[in-house]
Amino acid sequence: MKGFVFQNPTKIIFGKGKISKLGEEVKPYASKVLLVYGRGSVKRNGVYDEVTKSLKENGVTFVELSGVKPNPVLSKVKEGIKIARKENVGAIVAVGGGSVIDTCKTIAAGFYYDGDIWDAFVGKYKVERSLPIFVVLTISATGSEMNGGAVITNEETKQKFSFWTNASYPKVSILDPSVQFSLPPIQTLNGAADAIAHVLELYFDGTPNTLILDELSEGIIRTIISSTETLIKSPHDYDARANLVWSATLALNGINGTGRNGGDWSSHAIEHSLSALYDIAHGSGLAVVFPAWMKYVYKEDVAKFARLARKVFNVSAENDEEAAVKGIEELKEWFRTIGLPVTLKEAKIPEDEIEKVVENASMRTPFGKLKRLYPDDVREILKLCM
Ligand code: NZQ
Ligand code: ZN
Repeated sequence: MKGFVFQNPTKIIFGKGKISKLGEEVKPYASKVLLVYGRGSVKRNGVYDEVTKSLKENGVTFVELSGVKPNPVLSKVKEGIKIARKENVGAIVAVGGGSVIDTCKTIAAGFYYDGDIWDAFVGKYKVERSLPIFVVLTISATGSEMNGGAVITNEETKQKFSFWTNASYPKVSILDPSVQFSLPPIQTLNGAADAIAHVLELYFDGTPNTLILDELSEGIIRTIISSTETLIKSPHDYDARANLVWSATLALNGINGTGRNGGDWSSHAIEHSLSALYDIAHGSGLAVVFPAWMKYVYKEDVAKFARLARKVFNVSAENDEEAAVKGIEELKEWFRTIGLPVTLKEAKIPEDEIEKVVENASMRTPFGKLKRLYPDDVREILKLCM
């Protein structure tokens, strides 16, 4: 295990009915906020009403930015920065999932930056100042509710890039699992795949002697798998929802990254190119890319891949090589069985456009810790996605 500093400043308020706490949490920071949400689910499931009621009861006024789309875009961020400045808000309230939260983090950072906030995504500006961010989470997937990351697509350049900074952790995130009863089934599955991918990006980064983290990781994945299977049959099972919600947060709130090498993140880099070009859901893209990446790199650390196979999928095998290969198939098969795409074709991505994806990914290559990947490697991984 490597040495590390771990500090996560986000306060989590977890449980049924907890959205009513929002106003009193925001009040010490701001009397006027920018309230940001997506394309309408929060109006249909009553979350918007709960949020605005709590703000009003605490004397917090708000202006709104709605219509944030999945795979959120830079133009929406800029619209938000304009409103936030014009209305001189003191904080941002995100009501939604990763797309809304990341839009808010970027608005909150851009509020204080005179240049183009895209600079933060291309390493020209280090975000050190941000408006306070409050989150009401409505879909579990990204962990954005408890981390300092933001992922935004620049629609003009087709770059889906991220920044990570201590200034962007939400002050408070409210996680009420029952608000996720209204999720379309595919969104629950996308979230499960994303959270598993986060655990595995960290698990497979080549750091030796990380037993406590490995046990934690395997426990999180087993919990995601069993909770998701319960939710497929009973979408309103509160306990399964609660376990999935907290698992997804723990997957990428930093705790699971302690003592490691920073994570591999190659599958995410390749998936972000797919989302940037074809606007597919991040979790679905990962279900396609992750098993292919595993197949391509497992020889770099056969014992670890065999460990995952045995501890998560109960694989029995004569040797590590056989276990590793079986484990990769098990994960792919699980994605397929629950209803996620596992090939480019199933994700409706034209197979004859692989070069476009390689070119897009090459804006960021080389990437990866377990194995350093270059455009030729990305091409081979994409071929394994067919
Ligand atoms: O727009 P609305 O109508 O709200 O619908 C949303 C959206 O269509 C819907 N939804 C959310 N909560 C709902 C609901 N529908 C019914 N009931 C509810 N309770 O779900 C759809 C997907 O929402 P989105 O926010 O896009 O999902 P997710 O949380 O998976 O976020 C994905 C984005 O986050 C990025 C991804 O790349 C992608 O852009 N990521 C962010 C990370 C981070 N900041 O740490 C890390 C991740 O690896 C990831 O890259
Ligand atoms: Zn992800």
